[in-house]
Amino acid sequence: MQFTQLLAGGLILAASLSAFAQRPNTTNYDESKVGNLPLPDPLTCADGSKVTDAKTWQTKRRAEVFGLFQTHVYGRSPAKPANLVFEVTKTEPKALGGTATRKEIAIYLTGKKDGPRLDLLVFVPNGVKGPVPAFLGCNFNGNHAVHADPTITLNPRWMRNSQDKQGVVNNRATEASRGSEASRWQVEMVIAKGYALATYYYGDVEPDHAEGWKDGLRAAMSKGGASTQFAPDAWGAIGAWAWGLSRGLDYLEKDKAIDAKKVAVIGHSRLGKTSLWAGASDERFGMVISNNSGEGGASISRRDFGETIAVLNKNFPHWFCGNYKQYTGHPENLPVDMHELAALAAPRPLYIASAQEDTWADPKGEFLAGKLAEPVYALFGKKGTGVAEWPAVNQPVGESIGYHVRSGKHDVTAYDWEQYLRFADKHFKR
Ligand code: GCU
Repeated sequence: MQFTQLLAGGLILAASLSAFAQRPNTTNYDESKVGNLPLPDPLTCADGSKVTDAKTWQTKRRAEVFGLFQTHVYGRSPAKPANLVFEVTKTEPKALGGTATRKEIAIYLTGKKDGPRLDLLVFVPNGVKGPVPAFLGCNFNGNHAVHADPTITLNPRWMRNSQDKQGVVNNRATEASRGSEASRWQVEMVIAKGYALATYYYGDVEPDHAEGWKDGLRAAMSKGGASTQFAPDAWGAIGAWAWGLSRGLDYLEKDKAIDAKKVAVIGHSRLGKTSLWAGASDERFGMVISNNSGEGGASISRRDFGETIAVLNKNFPHWFCGNYKQYTGHPENLPVDMHELAALAAPRPLYIASAQEDTWADPKGEFLAGKLAEPVYALFGKKGTGVAEWPAVNQPVGESIGYHVRSGKHDVTAYDWEQYLRFADKHFKR
């Protein structure tokens, strides 16, 4: 099978395998017990030949690796619809005390006004010679949660009930949820640095629960609607959310204030898995940022540390494609691992961030995905993380592959944004 061809001659270690088998229901946080499963080699083609130049990566191997992620992890997403409709529904030229122009854009995803729609919130800095680079990412709690500005439209759709007082009652946002996610977006900081910020609520595309697809884009775009039986390699929710990010970029390409070649796709946690997949799927994104994306995102799946594929499949069966279920308890059979997802960003700048206390996400595994993507960046003459070892806490590193492990918990903080802005300044050369 494909997997053995990808192993670059490695054999699966029986001892490591049994470590996995013995621990199906507990979480390992002991580095000495992560196992030693050999990783697939991004530079060995399916036919066994080696990739030694950028051209072979781009014309041959990249498509193989991408295809494996489609088939086994995130599923296949449909192409861009021909009849996408954008409608600017609100414009405030003097937002944020006059420092930014704020727009809301309805994107009708199947072209029909009564069909699925996502609402993009865009802040563009005023008084900056444009077009400007931008960050684009999904938010968890609605556009109104990204900033406390009371004129941002309150999202009317289903959302997860708040565990931490986010003002969501009976699965609907209330006025109390305004700005509840503001610390994760740092809008003022981004605007002050001369960048635009664009975001949409991921639940516009698909409500985040196992049956959510029936009320979302995946049903709307399937012939069978809410009765669809998905093929085992059809898109899951992450695929749908990532697809929505590409539609956001479709809009940004049409907005003259934005330099659409300099759009960084960004996301936190499950939405960091989403930004990695969006960046892999859509090479128009000029930069890819993963914040604490964890298992099924940047973390190496073959490391038994923190969350596992088994836990993902059990708790979030709708996120990945049907085929991903086969790898419950068997990461060693997955024909790819997440350093290859990181490599799909190449040669574009990639930033992976971890948090020290976010052990569930396996911070070291997140670092290793970036580190082990370096051979692919090297094909393009690009230096990756620039370090041999996992860096110390609060010591950002990296050339084309940025990385830091921040002190503190699973979150997006001002510190994280400072690093992303510095990285963007370096690569978007302004
Ligand atoms: C859970 C899940 C993670 C995910 C996180 C989040 O913790 O297990 O995989 O990244 O939620 O999205 O906040």
